[in-house]
Amino acid sequence: MVDRNGWDGEVPVSDASPRRPPESFVAQANVADEAVHEKFADEWPACWERAAALLDWDEPYDTVLEDDDAPFYRWFTGGRLNAAYNCLDRHVEGGRKNHAAIRWEGKRGESTTYTYRELYVEVNELAASLRELGVEADDVVTIYLPMIPELPTAMLACARIGAPHSVVFAGLSADALATRMDAADSEYLVTCDGYYRRGDAFNQKGKADNALLELDQDVTTVVVDRLGEELPHVLGASEYDYHDLLDAHRGETVDPVSRAAEDMLFLMYTSGTTGRPKGVVHATGGYLSYAAWTSHAVLDVKPEDTYWCAADIGWITGHSYIVYGPLALGTTTLLYEGTPDYPDRNRLWEIIERNAVDVFYTAPTAIRAFMKWGEEYPDRHDLSSLRLLGTVGEPINPRAWEWYHEHVGGGECPIVDTWWQTETGGIAISTLPGVDDMKPGAAGPALPGVDARVVDGAGEAVDPEEAGYLALARPWPGMLRTLYEGDDRFVDEYWRRLSDPDADEWRYFTGDAARVDEDGYVTVLGRVDDVINVSGHRLSTMEVESAIVEVEGVAEAAVVGATGGSDGTDTGIFAYVSTERDADAAAIREAIHEAIEDAIGPIARPEEVVFTPELPKTRSGKIMRRLLADVTNGEELGDTSALRNPEIVGELQAAIREE
Ligand code: PRX
Repeated sequence: MVDRNGWDGEVPVSDASPRRPPESFVAQANVADEAVHEKFADEWPACWERAAALLDWDEPYDTVLEDDDAPFYRWFTGGRLNAAYNCLDRHVEGGRKNHAAIRWEGKRGESTTYTYRELYVEVNELAASLRELGVEADDVVTIYLPMIPELPTAMLACARIGAPHSVVFAGLSADALATRMDAADSEYLVTCDGYYRRGDAFNQKGKADNALLELDQDVTTVVVDRLGEELPHVLGASEYDYHDLLDAHRGETVDPVSRAAEDMLFLMYTSGTTGRPKGVVHATGGYLSYAAWTSHAVLDVKPEDTYWCAADIGWITGHSYIVYGPLALGTTTLLYEGTPDYPDRNRLWEIIERNAVDVFYTAPTAIRAFMKWGEEYPDRHDLSSLRLLGTVGEPINPRAWEWYHEHVGGGECPIVDTWWQTETGGIAISTLPGVDDMKPGAAGPALPGVDARVVDGAGEAVDPEEAGYLALARPWPGMLRTLYEGDDRFVDEYWRRLSDPDADEWRYFTGDAARVDEDGYVTVLGRVDDVINVSGHRLSTMEVESAIVEVEGVAEAAVVGATGGSDGTDTGIFAYVSTERDADAAAIREAIHEAIEDAIGPIARPEEVVFTPELPKTRSGKIMRRLLADVTNGEELGDTSALRNPEIVGELQAAIREE
């Protein structure tokens, strides 16, 4: 497999020996039944009733899985429930009203706690406000907020009234917001005046205003006043102040709207293989069951824990593992507004110490930064409250794993390396910390009930330790149901490639390459499609390239992900650009940075813009991005015989060495 459709890179082999989780952990683990994998296999799909049983249903479901219209699978049909009821009311009614639901740590050192009752009250008041503004069940409400408590509150208020939310990461640009609101025909927006970025006030409403100018539909906007006097703002027509709305609806309650299990809970836009983001649709019953089950079984979350997932709610990790999973289980979820190094590099460890955090979940890119800063920061703090560590977003190399284990986990905490995607809704491959041995570098076996396989282009399993496509050969409750107004694209992107519809054999294509060991442990190798993963941010090469080619003077562009050193010490985007004759390179470089910030946001800013007279192309005129990736990463070049212009490769290698 030597093209963009496969993996032609080196297949790393983890030589780390398996580690048993400590007995003290196993003894208290939520799931410690050694037979759990076998039981799920024997009882499939009824095994998933264990997940549904973690929720309260208004109406019990009659069928666990309906698969007669595959790949449009339906879970827990006949059942009805409300997600906000499950995250709030039942804990309030169950005698835990004064238990902390959210502990918020603000960027300026401020902290606030919302008890389940307080969160319930605010969610109800906001739900009443949204109703009054005209939001009805099934209207898509866009939320464009940073990591402040109003963000989960707005999500739960939407869920309460049956309005799907579409959260757009606050760092994305006005254009990106407009594209998403337009695609979802969203007529409601919840945003804020601004927020602090590394201590400075940053105007968010300006970006939202610009986005609305691009839309055809009228939009009603709710604005959270985060900055007060520091960034005065004026509300125009169809704009309402969040806290004024709450005041006007003080003490009101709204009955949770009972939703069919398959009704949409939310939409989450993510990058696909084209420039157009995909609206991933998640359904209420299956998604919430899966988020709760995986929080329970993999993250070992307990109601009495203080649990911290240091992701942003603007991405799927925050949806599943800051908001829905932990709140469904009634735990205390920590919400952190800031960055790990502001005001200094002690910040995260200070927060863990002060809050006696039990479970900490972060990304390898963050762990690599902590390593670079040095162990003196975590070592200075009492982190003994930690019981379990998690990572997500990218492969974690064994050295970073060991560092995390030693310096954050005190050599005691098991680590779960969790593989999943926006589309899977929750963790799909990981060790169960109370059951499975850990192998640093390999994510682990598929979760019980999940059928992960490494297959060739025809969907057939490859031999153990061989690289191939990572596929999921059975449906699971947290899976996406479709793409918003995109059923055909859903089938094309995820199912057509590896399935055999005539034989009714459906395999979900993840877009990742992987290899699986004899013992079923999966090592994820990276994306094989036109999606790049830069420091845990998922971007489409097409999206970035289309921004670049808009710049005057640019003829062609190709972007690839740089993986940095062999230890993955750094990642970034490299943009290869050919210009029209007589173009001014310095001005174009500047304009490219601006164009990307406007189209997507600062997260897509290239680390390097490399000018080249031509891009390497095949005889049929396709840009060979895989070759560019090899050049970027200083890898040995794969087969270049298909190139029409092989001479360009040496020039590019020389250019990269100079950078
Ligand atoms: O390539 C895989 C990588 O992140 C992709 C999914 O990105 P996104 O939808 O943004 O969701 C990120 C958080 C769930 C995957 O296709 N990925 C995620 N987790 C891991 C991973 N790669 C290796 N190991 C992981 N644990």
